[in-house]
Amino acid sequence: MFVFHSPKEMQIFANQVRKEGKVIGFVPTMGALHEGHLRLIRKARRESDITVVSVFVNPIQFDDPNDFSRYPRTLDEDRYKLEMEGVQVLFAPSAEDMYPPGFSTFVEVQNLDRYMEGAHRPGHFRGVTTVVLKLFNIVKPHFAVFGLKDAQQYYIVKRMVEDLNLDLEIVPHETVREPDGLAMSSRNRLLSPESRKQATALYRALKLGKEMIFSGERDPWKVKDEIRKFLEREAPLGEVDYVEIASIPDLQPVSEIEGKVLLALAVRFPEARLIDNFILLPDDKLVWNEKIG
Ligand code: PAJ
Repeated sequence: MFVFHSPKEMQIFANQVRKEGKVIGFVPTMGALHEGHLRLIRKARRESDITVVSVFVNPIQFDDPNDFSRYPRTLDEDRYKLEMEGVQVLFAPSAEDMYPPGFSTFVEVQNLDRYMEGAHRPGHFRGVTTVVLKLFNIVKPHFAVFGLKDAQQYYIVKRMVEDLNLDLEIVPHETVREPDGLAMSSRNRLLSPESRKQATALYRALKLGKEMIFSGERDPWKVKDEIRKFLEREAPLGEVDYVEIASIPDLQPVSEIEGKVLLALAVRFPEARLIDNFILLPDDKLVWNEKIG
């Protein structure tokens, strides 16, 4: 496996690969790789000649300095896992290389960041879209795989690609879960045993909301209220940040549940803040992000 730290070296390599007519598949990550990441990577591997994985804990997307300093960093283990998966290139730049002195350019996708993660983490998505666009320009992929565990991020990145005429495809991947339903996340390893137990409430709360909606409930407030009460009862260590039902793809709260909707929630445990969501198609009684490969 090639390991590049320098953006320029990565770019030269990508240019060469493209000249040879090979397809570059890309999976951007912040490392502390888990099975969820690996499933995205396997998908990229199947559909590309050269798979590039980036590991970069992007400082400008953290609104909370404590979250940034606590974020797990396990580059040696990550490198080993990527070797095992047969990934051809690891790109692991330093913050100094990505944001040298004088760095002044930011990318912002408006409106889609107004609720949910965007509302609760000011500046987060500006940091995400800025780094993702930089990574696309450095890695030059033909496609990039994004997980629907971060549904708002996926729709925002897709919007950016369309708005800025970026010449690549954004490929979605379903949410990958632990056997008890908890969505895999690098932050899960920070949870105390008691918080970890209660964390399954996020998935169970989504299922409760899904059942209400599939049974015909169309009032978002009733569904959100029930979910909130359920979380307060089942996860007393956690504090509910938000429960939202939003339209797709514009991510605005709905006043009536119809068409494809995003049911999303965030719960703050003492050790880590967790998010989860279902993308629901009520008419087909389908959870889109639990179904696709
Ligand atoms: P990170 O949280 O490391 O996630 C990297 C990719 O893995 C994202 O596309 C995320 O949605 C996906 N992912 C994480 N856990 C998942 C799960 N349980 N199921 C499915 N997909 C999962 O998201 C980021 O990093 C950053 O914001 C990044 C895009 C790299 C920009 O810095």
